[in-house]
Amino acid sequence: MTRDPARVRGILWATEAKVTLGRRRQHTIEFDEIGEWSERKIEYVRKYVDAYSRILQRQKFHSTYIDAFAGAGVHRRKGTGELVPGSPMQVLDVTPPFDEYHFIDLDVSKLDYLKEQVGERPDVHFHAGDCNEILVSEVFPQIRYKDYRRAFCLLDPYGLHLRWEVFHEAARTGTVEILVNFSIMDLNMNVGLKNPAGIKPEQAERMTAFWGDETWREAVHALNQTQPNLFGLEEKAPNDAIAKAFCQRLKDGAGFAYVAPPRLMSSTSGAPLYYLVFASHNATGAKIMGEILRG
Ligand SMILES: C[S@@+](CC[C@H](N)C(=O)[O-])C[C@H]1O[C@@H](n2cnc3c(N)ncnc32)[C@H](O)[C@@H]1O
Repeated sequence: MTRDPARVRGILWATEAKVTLGRRRQHTIEFDEIGEWSERKIEYVRKYVDAYSRILQRQKFHSTYIDAFAGAGVHRRKGTGELVPGSPMQVLDVTPPFDEYHFIDLDVSKLDYLKEQVGERPDVHFHAGDCNEILVSEVFPQIRYKDYRRAFCLLDPYGLHLRWEVFHEAARTGTVEILVNFSIMDLNMNVGLKNPAGIKPEQAERMTAFWGDETWREAVHALNQTQPNLFGLEEKAPNDAIAKAFCQRLKDGAGFAYVAPPRLMSSTSGAPLYYLVFASHNATGAKIMGEILRG
């Protein structure tokens, strides 16, 4: 990323992240430390919304940007400790602007810090709480097809912390497209075990809540296996096959018309971390994001 973060929206970047929350409390925010791959992810988002906001404006749609795991709006760069802008601040800088923004975070301190940076703006809405509930009950229902509205929703959790209803409801609107951080690392650590019998029930439950049903078991341990191993046991499917199965699920299960080929994001040492998966009802959007993710 070549942009100077200090220039983003003219923000004065504090070296120490202290923000006064109300009169009495003063919180020190622990910024997340992010690797080069996270900066690349934010860059992909920025590139896409840059194109998307222009297209929506040209077609006279009411446009909404939703950041469901918004964070504090600032991170520390791994290695140097430099402050870098997070996805909400990067997107607020895009022109033409969206008509409306929704920023959600479970961590009230982070959301308050983000609010401080954004300032009072009638077009920006902050929601403190679990995005699994807020998206489905408050935000997605506003993006109505008949009102000529469209939205891009970034779903960027640390792990597999989304519930299937979010994908399903986003698809059902016909107006909301999503970019999902699909954590293959979380999956491999907790359900992608060599021996599926060793999966803990609470991890299986979490995976089912994410995938929407139990078919993840075939995707993770049986699909794409031409034959069982020598001992007649199922083997763990390759990461790419699991990501492909998740894309198929977004199409067949949730009902998205287009899903771009997933992009694997790895650490600098080559460890697979997550796939970026884009799903939409719009062929042009999927084509544009497909090109960005290939880049
Ligand atoms: C990976 S960070 C998001 C980074 C941000 N998208 C960016 O690029 O700048 C994940 C964020 O999700 C928040 N979070 C975790 N669980 C959540 C939930 N259920 N609902 C909303 N936010 C959540 C965390 O507090 C954290 O700030």
